[in-house]
Amino acid sequence: MVTLIASNQGPHAQPLEERKSAHIDLAFASQTEHAQADSRFYYEPALSGHPRSELAPLSFLKKTFRTPIWVSSMTGGTEMAKIINQNLARACAEFGMGMGLGSCRPLLEGNERFEDFNLRPIIGNEQPLYANLGVAQLEELFAAKQGHRIIELVESIQADGLIVHINPLQEWFQPEGDRYFRSPVDIVSEVLDTVSFPVIVKEVGQGMGPESIRAFLKMPIAALDFGAFGGTNFSKLEMLRDKNGRATRFEPLITVGHTAYEMVQFVNEIYRQEGDKLACKEIIISGGVNTFLDGYYLTESCHLSAVYGQASAFLKHAAGNYEDLRIYVQSQIDGLRVAKAMLKVRNNQ
Ligand SMILES: Cc1cc2nc3c(=O)[nH]c(=O)nc-3n(C[C@H](O)[C@H](O)[C@H](O)COP(=O)(O)O)c2cc1C
Repeated sequence: MVTLIASNQGPHAQPLEERKSAHIDLAFASQTEHAQADSRFYYEPALSGHPRSELAPLSFLKKTFRTPIWVSSMTGGTEMAKIINQNLARACAEFGMGMGLGSCRPLLEGNERFEDFNLRPIIGNEQPLYANLGVAQLEELFAAKQGHRIIELVESIQADGLIVHINPLQEWFQPEGDRYFRSPVDIVSEVLDTVSFPVIVKEVGQGMGPESIRAFLKMPIAALDFGAFGGTNFSKLEMLRDKNGRATRFEPLITVGHTAYEMVQFVNEIYRQEGDKLACKEIIISGGVNTFLDGYYLTESCHLSAVYGQASAFLKHAAGNYEDLRIYVQSQIDGLRVAKAMLKVRNNQ
């Protein structure tokens, strides 16, 4: 008798006869003549067998990522947000990922929503957890000579550091939006002078052009998180939320911005020009990164050390029971494992 040692007999495996008959039934539905082959990769099936090992650990933000994925800043301030955050923190602990919190502004106003952000007991000490505040709040705190409150906030939730989000267009669209008048570079500089923990800078879904990227990469920030155009778009979201139609007048601004792909090209060119003059050498590639294959392509294409980040993709799986989220993350990991074994990025400049 021959024993099949390599077959993948999971709980959903069909008996051989059923499988063969399904192949015949589905063959016509599986034609790809009108589908485009993914031109981002060379597919090299000759050079490797199926991956046996787990993903290699990556040192990033001075911690170890067992999975090169970042849970992008999302939420806090509601009961549902608490459940989402707790599920996401549990997944980060289980799979070795890092997490950015959504805006911690509610913690500047009081302690009622503390538990939404109190994730260190869940995520543990091994994985990075970052607090999050907007440039507008930071400008306000500095104007009131209350920079010390940033430190108190980060310490209160035992975060590793702070993410500063830069969201001028979202604020412009929002009827109740904030205004800030100093440049974000200036405000982030003051944050760096005030705190001793690491600082990450991000957009919220429209990315940044080359001169903004260059300015931030020259500063001693821990990482730049793209928040690129192509996924969740907060200008659009605020327009949809605005009942009196004021925001509709700014509609053309919704399509302004830079995709993650474009931002990787900017980063590579800036790194080529500036080399070791860059003080920041870590990138979270986020914004419209829909699949593990996008993440693989973008991180492999980036010449600085990079992980990829997702917000809305995680959100879809984080609001219900944990098992759904677990399956989602495991499928990202398995997708990355097979991609690493079989796919080489084309035109990797
Ligand atoms: C529900 C939700 C809430 C968000 N809240 C914040 C926030 O408080 N602070 C922040 O920096 N970004 C926030 N973001 C933006 C994300 O971090 C991310 O930059 C953006 O959604 C693009 O990523 P995506 O295309 O993977 O969704 C939020 C995103 C979502 C979906």
